[in-house]
Amino acid sequence: MLFTGDKIMKRMFLLVVFIIGIIAINLKVSYAMTGKQLFKKDGCILCHAIHGKGGSFGPNLSAIGKIRTYSWIRRQIRNPKLNFFTPNSFVMFHGKVYESIMPANKKISDANLNKLTQYLTSLK
Ligand code: HEC
Repeated sequence: MLFTGDKIMKRMFLLVVFIIGIIAINLKVSYAMTGKQLFKKDGCILCHAIHGKGGSFGPNLSAIGKIRTYSWIRRQIRNPKLNFFTPNSFVMFHGKVYESIMPANKKISDANLNKLTQYLTSLK
């Protein structure tokens, strides 16, 4: 009887499909992201490369977990300036000089910050 030309039933059917579509889109948007996905979504990848993918404005992070601790990396994301003993427009990282242009990411949630930091700490 759904497809027997009953206009009201047809409309109801379309309405249900529409509602399911909206729910599906919302589920996808609020779907929790992994640290790896956040690295892309939050723009880190524009300046940092991991395993050959990404920019070179900042240091390569392919093995960052070997040289930095969890708390150090976490602080670097929220407030990079706190990691420099002499705040300057240039910083020396592992024998290479970088212009200190890394933006502080103040809007990242604590949960996402933890995930992103965990991901980076795991790179060894
Ligand atoms: C506009 C370019 C830019 C963006 C975007 C950026 N960074 Fe950086 N990052 C840098 C630069 C340049 C440095 C060198 C020190 C500094 O400027 O703070 C750095 C340093 C770092 C370091 C320390 C590296 C080391 O070798 O000790 C980590 C970790 C880091 N960034 C992680 C991130 C993460 C995670 C994000 C995304 C939330 C991010 N960065 C976004 C440019 C950037």
